[in-house]
Amino acid sequence: MGCAEKVVASVRLDRVCKVYEGGHVAVDDASFEVADRELMVLVGPSGCGKSTLLRMIAGLESITKGAVSIDGREVNEVAPKDRNIAMVFQSYALFPHLTVAQNIAFGLKVRKVPAAEIERRVLATTRTLELDSMLDRLPRALSGGQRQRVALARALVREPAVFLLDEPLSNLDARLRQSMRIELARLHRQLGATMIYVTHDQVEAMTLGQRIVVFDRGRIQQIDTPLRLYQQPANRFVAGFLGSPAMNFLPGRLADDGANLAVGAQILQLDGAARALARPAGASGRDVVLGVRPEHVHVVLPDTADTAAPVDPRLTATLEAIEPTGSELHLVFRCGPYQLIARVAPRPLPEPGALLQLRLALDHLHFFSSESEGRRIGPVV
Ligand SMILES: Nc1ncnc2c1ncn2[C@@H]1O[C@H](COP(=O)(O)OP(=O)(O)OP(=O)(O)O)[C@@H](O)[C@H]1O
Ligand SMILES: [Mg+2]
Repeated sequence: MGCAEKVVASVRLDRVCKVYEGGHVAVDDASFEVADRELMVLVGPSGCGKSTLLRMIAGLESITKGAVSIDGREVNEVAPKDRNIAMVFQSYALFPHLTVAQNIAFGLKVRKVPAAEIERRVLATTRTLELDSMLDRLPRALSGGQRQRVALARALVREPAVFLLDEPLSNLDARLRQSMRIELARLHRQLGATMIYVTHDQVEAMTLGQRIVVFDRGRIQQIDTPLRLYQQPANRFVAGFLGSPAMNFLPGRLADDGANLAVGAQILQLDGAARALARPAGASGRDVVLGVRPEHVHVVLPDTADTAAPVDPRLTATLEAIEPTGSELHLVFRCGPYQLIARVAPRPLPEPGALLQLRLALDHLHFFSSESEGRRIGPVV
């Protein structure tokens, strides 16, 4: 594909809604723009409306309200085949009576691509996706992961301007998933195509997305780069959804002057930074939820001098369990009614049951409102 003939393929959603028959609101007022050649990931828990949104972009689902535009042109009424998009379905949707090669070539045949060109593209794609040894098999003779790769190959050979991928790697084992992820990112760069990639897997979203749309219960929660979502989550849902183990949440009450936070029976002293964050946002003297990621919870061991960062707030907690992952330890603590996880390098530790002091990195504390939507408190920089 030469640059001159490359179509610009931005995708834009304006206040898109989907209400299914029976009144279920699957997508509520979704607006965002995917730039030409961008890889945008749409992530959220099962049932939040991801497939519905993608199917509306593809033209396979009617749009209740709002507009979908591709390349600046509204396509609400444009047939799927005329949108220059290829979609990989969550459910593969392969033709059972066609072989792997025939399934992959099908879309090209329909578009009357010359036979030699079809063969060249099918071979190149199947080699990339490690399917070249099973070209003559029928789908029923394939594993779930292999079927999923055929579905992916079928979209890739078409070389469309926009790819819509609905959980295309969900049936692969961990090794294949990772190598396919790297392959997809490479293909994205190489093809210069716009991609919208749907997943419920936050690791996949973080590693693959240039930007990520976080979705929950039909509503967009936040749109940003992976790093900014991780560092500045807009609300408790985003904070808890991205990152593993998940962010720890400790409900507490901020003192009137913002100088400390009462968590159960303990008082966490907050230095200027946290105070400055809390006060202008009007959070002083009210209930908030403190968020701290496991890598920002440090354990103060009894026999080592605790000289680091004296301003960091401290908390006493009972060590309940130690989960080794090989490269690190996940330490599960209990602090009154709350559980707290710390992520530390492997090291000798006291037995579970020990009462230990935890140091929370002051520069990495998050505050959220205690209301149900749990908005972030403080400036977003
Ligand atoms: N044809 C339909 N009629 C009525 N409700 C539907 C229909 N299709 C989906 N839904 C509902 O809309 C909501 C969103 O479904 P959708 O398939 O978009 O979720 P999803 O985010 O893709 O989930 P998953 O990760 O499990 O694939 C769900 O509550 C689902 O039950
Ligand atoms: Mg889905």
